[in-house]
Amino acid sequence: MKCVDDFRLRLGKHELVPIMIGGMGVDISTADLALEAARLGGIGHISDAMINTVADRRYDTKQVKEKLAFYKYNVHNEDKSSVKFDLGRLVEATKLHVEATMRRKQGSGLVFINCMEKLTMNAPKETLKVRMSAALDGGIDGITLAAGLHLGSFALIEDHPRFRDVRLGIIVSSVRALSLFLKKSARTGRLPDYVVVEGPLAGGHLGFGMDWAQYDLATIVAEVIAFLKAEQLDIPVIPAGGIFTGGDATALLEQGAAAVQVATRFTVTEECGLPAKVKQEYFKANAEDIVVNEISPTGYPMRMILGSPGIGDGIRPNCEAYGYLLDANGKCAYVMAYNREVAAHPGARKVSVMDKTCLCTHMRNFDIWTCGQTAYRLKDTSQRLGDGSYQLLSAEHVFRDYQFSSDNKVVLPESVAV
Ligand SMILES: Cc1cc2nc3c(=O)[nH]c(=O)nc-3n(C[C@H](O)[C@H](O)[C@H](O)COP(=O)(O)O)c2cc1C
Repeated sequence: MKCVDDFRLRLGKHELVPIMIGGMGVDISTADLALEAARLGGIGHISDAMINTVADRRYDTKQVKEKLAFYKYNVHNEDKSSVKFDLGRLVEATKLHVEATMRRKQGSGLVFINCMEKLTMNAPKETLKVRMSAALDGGIDGITLAAGLHLGSFALIEDHPRFRDVRLGIIVSSVRALSLFLKKSARTGRLPDYVVVEGPLAGGHLGFGMDWAQYDLATIVAEVIAFLKAEQLDIPVIPAGGIFTGGDATALLEQGAAAVQVATRFTVTEECGLPAKVKQEYFKANAEDIVVNEISPTGYPMRMILGSPGIGDGIRPNCEAYGYLLDANGKCAYVMAYNREVAAHPGARKVSVMDKTCLCTHMRNFDIWTCGQTAYRLKDTSQRLGDGSYQLLSAEHVFRDYQFSSDNKVVLPESVAV
């Protein structure tokens, strides 16, 4: 019986174990996690979501505090359009994170960065250009364009000296999105080096509507492979979403996929950036606790654990400190929902906002527990310790389980004495 290790992913001169750990913002896919994937011969992702916050935490900068101090006058103002990101600071934060990560890289694998278009940051084009250019300057091996159609993203970096030889990929959920992207990017004379096809069972934001359950990953992957063949384009296709075992991955590789992108199983590893308590919530989740809702201000449905403290919370918007989801007009759907509730409840000390969430604040505080649909199976990948908690796994253990298991079994970790 075949296993993932019988396959290799070729990206230019690189020959890789065909396992890619997906980007998980905000610093859930940490440098440590990405570096483990690279050390083991695969691909890991860091993320540039809320990079100023990540820089403060990891590299002792004071960017959030300084931004808040600068815009303090606006905290009680409903209009957030004047709150802008300092592009120089954005470059500084991105380079700090990328350089510190790449300096520590070992092994034959690669480290990419996940860049989401939906982080519009009150100046979508300018901020995305700076984010991607700074990552290239910092020496990142590749950029995965995520959460958006990215119709103009290649053009934003086409003048960068590394544009032709850095690995560039895009996440899509349909042939239509891929075909649009290829059409709009053609002008730059460059194709993506890989295409991640994300199905409806993935974590984070979904590239589907609330009818996501009608779609199926294997079918979309087959459609994308057929489309690329018809267009005579030799671009590796990397499925993602709901690939829980080595056997799931092998089936897709046998179907013509070049690698797989996985994430949920790594949320309960030591290297993952979630707090230890939250990792236990992921272990404990049952199937009925995993929901897809529309509370993300991005407009995309998002999957999360029902007990996430950020659901229904009516915190005052923190755009002066964060503001990553302010659109080109300085608007965010949460700010509007919050203002509506405040107006409807004059004098209330605290309001509840059910239809939207302050995603910046709650992702920063690990209070929105986004996960893939298979998170309810995480409890079957570990064992309980004497105190009733689940044993955390090492990223190496999970990676090797994907790489070498030849059926749908999951290898449990060695017991630790408690
Ligand atoms: C906790 C978590 C956070 C995620 N955050 C992001 C993100 O910031 N950007 C992104 O493109 N995808 C994000 N994803 C999606 C993953 O990168 C990946 O494509 C997907 O979850 C793979 O499916 P799986 O989790 O079933 O293995 C996230 C997934 C999880 C579980």
